[in-house]
Amino acid sequence: MRHLMSPLDLTVEELDKLLDLANDIEKFPEKYAHACDGKRIATLFYEPSTRTRLSFEAAMMNLGGKVLGFSSADSSSAAKGESVSDTIRMVSCYADICAMRHPKEGAPLVASMVSGIPVINAGDGGHQHPTQTLTDLLTIRSLKGRLDHLTIGLCGDLKFGRTVHSLINALVRYTGIRFVLISPEELRVPDYIREDVLRSNGIPFEEVIRLEDALPKLDLLYMTRVQRERFFNEDDYVRMKDFYILDSAKMKLAGPDMLVLHPLPRVNEISTEVDADPRAAYFRQVQYGVYVRMALILTLLEVKV
Ligand code: CP
Repeated sequence: MRHLMSPLDLTVEELDKLLDLANDIEKFPEKYAHACDGKRIATLFYEPSTRTRLSFEAAMMNLGGKVLGFSSADSSSAAKGESVSDTIRMVSCYADICAMRHPKEGAPLVASMVSGIPVINAGDGGHQHPTQTLTDLLTIRSLKGRLDHLTIGLCGDLKFGRTVHSLINALVRYTGIRFVLISPEELRVPDYIREDVLRSNGIPFEEVIRLEDALPKLDLLYMTRVQRERFFNEDDYVRMKDFYILDSAKMKLAGPDMLVLHPLPRVNEISTEVDADPRAAYFRQVQYGVYVRMALILTLLEVKV
């Protein structure tokens, strides 16, 4: 039985196969409409979510399966003190696979150690968000035609943004990847990402503060929101929250093919006027998230179509 805790749980070959399957699902959805008849996914969300929870549920329904779960810790027996380990033992009796989001880093990993069903990390604290990374990779490969030889700008809260950490981990395995890390001093990537992931893999990167300086050289700009829920102090959040706002004037500094991605939700960091720009790909990215989660469910449940 396999779980997904990090994008590195899949080899590059397995990842390619998964993305190929997602593209096939996009082209021929009817072929997969009954692939998971009789199967159930449990979505165990101890933290708020719109996209990840609903896209897992939509993915399972698109495959003919059913969904159950909870959308907040308060509406589960976690509110009475039940541990994640005990919860997953129960859920293993009710479902065939589960997706878990938790504010504590490592909680889905703890669950996977005692689980009777595959566990998917749907975001753990400020650590990892592997299925957002699968979504991002599918979007980039589908719209850019490749995952190598790209200069990628990551902008915003690079300290707490788990989608950024997972995406860097996944992309360093491809040749010709360069990063421009755009953040205020206080929200730079954690040391372990800079040293153990970027430097130890010999990946070229620069850290800059001004978005305007980075824009002309990027193939892809990955915007992120400032993660209010991870700040210890509201004043610090207020000071940081509007540090970057991508608007039409700034988009003029970017190349004609530079894609803009965002894991969403957005707050103020992308002005709505950018939505109409053909380079804005963040809503297309959401649709890719459903295809790739369908592919992941099929892969972890070992369903052949
Ligand atoms: N991208 C993402 O994880 O969105 P949600 O928090 O809405 O699931």
